[in-house]
Amino acid sequence: MSTPQSKPPVVVTGGAGAIGTVLVHALADAGHAVRVIDNLSSGKRERLRDLEQLGRLTFHSQDLGRDDDLRPTFRGAGEVWHLAANPNISLGTQNPRIDLENGTLAMAHVLEAARQTDVRRVLFASSSVVYGMPTVFPTPESYGPLLPESQYGASKLASEALISAYCHSYGMRGWIFRFANIVGPGMTHGVIPDFLQKIRRDPNRLEVLGDGRQAKSYLWVTDCVAGMRRAEEASQEVVNVFNLGTEQQVPVRDIAQRVVAAFGGRARIEYTGGRQGWPGDIPLQLLSVSKILSLGWRPQYDSSTAVDMAIAAGRAELGI
Ligand SMILES: NC(=O)c1ccc[n+]([C@@H]2O[C@H](COP(=O)([O-])OP(=O)(O)OC[C@H]3O[C@@H](n4cnc5c(N)ncnc54)[C@H](O)[C@@H]3O)[C@@H](O)[C@H]2O)c1
Repeated sequence: MSTPQSKPPVVVTGGAGAIGTVLVHALADAGHAVRVIDNLSSGKRERLRDLEQLGRLTFHSQDLGRDDDLRPTFRGAGEVWHLAANPNISLGTQNPRIDLENGTLAMAHVLEAARQTDVRRVLFASSSVVYGMPTVFPTPESYGPLLPESQYGASKLASEALISAYCHSYGMRGWIFRFANIVGPGMTHGVIPDFLQKIRRDPNRLEVLGDGRQAKSYLWVTDCVAGMRRAEEASQEVVNVFNLGTEQQVPVRDIAQRVVAAFGGRARIEYTGGRQGWPGDIPLQLLSVSKILSLGWRPQYDSSTAVDMAIAAGRAELGI
C-alpha cells in the first residue's frame, strides 16, 4: 500500500465480499481510490476499515437490486468492477426473485448508471455455471449453447448478455470472468465452509450432498484477482470473456476426507447420493484456461493446494 493515489477512482460492487475485499486491496495498492458499493448481505465492512481509515476507500451502503440512484457514486470513476451477487445458488432455487433482483436487475442498474455517467469500462464476476452441464472438458469460452441449470446461472448469463448489449450500443468495453470455484479467507458458501460448519456441529458425522464424485477446479482468491487484472491489462476487444480456474479437479469425496482427517479422522462420511448434490449443482467442472494462460498469467497454487489452504483458513476463522 505504498503507491500514492494517482489513477482514476474505481467503483467495486460487492467490495466487502470475500473476493471483493482482495480485489479492493489490490486496486488500492495499485494507486486507485476505491468506491465500494455493498449492502452487506454477505459482506463485512470491517475487512475494508484499514483502507477507509487511510482515506483510500469510500463505502456506499446501497442495494443494487433496488433502483437506487447510483450515479453520484459512479461519477468521475474510470471503471466499475461488478462483483455483488447472491452467493448461495440453493437459496436462489428456493426463491427465484433473489437472483433476478441481486443478479440480473443489479447488473442492469450498474450498466445504466455507467452509461449515464460515462464510465466506459465494466468488469464482471460471472461463473462457470453459465455452461450448464457441458459435454466438452476442459470447457472453452466458445462452448455453447449456454444452458445454465440454476436461477443464479441464468442471472449470470443474462448479465453477460446485458454487458455485451451495452458495450456494443454505447461505446463501452466489457470483461467477463467465468470463475471456477474460488476459495480463500472469508468465504461464506461452497463445499469447504459447508463441511467445516457441519463437522463443528457434529464431530462424528459428515454429510456429503450427492455421491461425492462431483469434481471441480479450485482457484485461490489472490490468483483469481491477479488473473482478472492481467486480462484487463492485456485484452482490448469490445467484450472480453475469460475462464478463470486451475487445470486440475479435486473430487468432493477427497475434500470430505481431508476435512475429516483435519479433525482427527473419527467422523463417518455419509453420502446423500445422486450425481448432483442439489438442484442446480454442476457435478463436473473443468474450465479451459488456455486463453488467460496465453497472456502470461499462471496460478500460484494448484487446486489441491488451494483446497488445503482454504480448509486451514476456514478452521482458523471458525476457531476450530
Ligand atoms: N466464490 C466463488 O466460488 C464464485 C464462483 C463464481 C462466481 N462468483 C462470483 O464472484 C462474486 C463475488 O463472490 P464472493 O465469493 O466474494 O461472494 P460474497 O458473498 O463474499 O460477496 C458478494 C458481495 O456482494 C454483496 N451484495 C450482494 N447483493 C448485493 C446487492 N443487492 N447490493 C449490494 N451489494 C450486494 C454482499 O454483501 C457481498 O459483500 C459474485 O458475483 C459471485 O457470484 C464467485
